[in-house]
Amino acid sequence: MRLDRFLAEATGQTRTVVKKALHRGEVTVDGEIVKKSDQQINGQAVCLEGRLLGEPKARYVLLHKPAGFISATQDDAHPCVLQLLPPELCRGIQCAGRLDVDTTGALLLTDDGQWSHRLRAPKHACKKVYQVDLAEPLAMDVATLFAEGIMLHGEDKPTLPAQLETVTATRVLLTIQEGKYHQVKRMFAAVGNFVVALHRLQVAEIVLGDLPEGQWRYLTAEEVASI
Ligand code: URA
Repeated sequence: MRLDRFLAEATGQTRTVVKKALHRGEVTVDGEIVKKSDQQINGQAVCLEGRLLGEPKARYVLLHKPAGFISATQDDAHPCVLQLLPPELCRGIQCAGRLDVDTTGALLLTDDGQWSHRLRAPKHACKKVYQVDLAEPLAMDVATLFAEGIMLHGEDKPTLPAQLETVTATRVLLTIQEGKYHQVKRMFAAVGNFVVALHRLQVAEIVLGDLPEGQWRYLTAEEVASI
């Protein structure tokens, strides 16, 4: 919601009154003075003359992760995805699930530990949809093997049923409902193929859509509630 509307609703004042307070520099958002009435508010701590208005809410973010960024808060070798978010948003926020450094696409971040846990917990079986580019044309039997579940190297149980949809001979959409380490790359390695590019299109009902690479947006209330 816009900052002027947030202020008006939280204080019971008119928008004209709150805009004057903004111009006087009496409003801070996460500790920074903000004068722009159209700034979007989604869980930040908003203070008027030093008084906190409402409770800061948990934050839920969808990021279009570019290749070369690591899904962690700190790393010595690679830049971290948090560097793509504004600093005031980063406080307490963590990746809810991970993508490999060379994987692109939908990455969720939040400061709500329970929500993050639900997203990752095997019993909730949140689906993830990947676009996969392969080194070799897809063999005929792979869709059936993935639907039945296959044994990955080093695991004691087969993968859960996964759905494979062919786009071209070397591009497929794969939907899985678990998140083992390097799962997609290992599944294709297990059938003698090799993943050359991996891009996550969707997590549960949260779709990357046309969000540009490197950009982020807040999740809608419906998307948050869908997990
Ligand atoms: N599976 C992989 O192999 N890598 C990812 O980044 C995500 C799923």
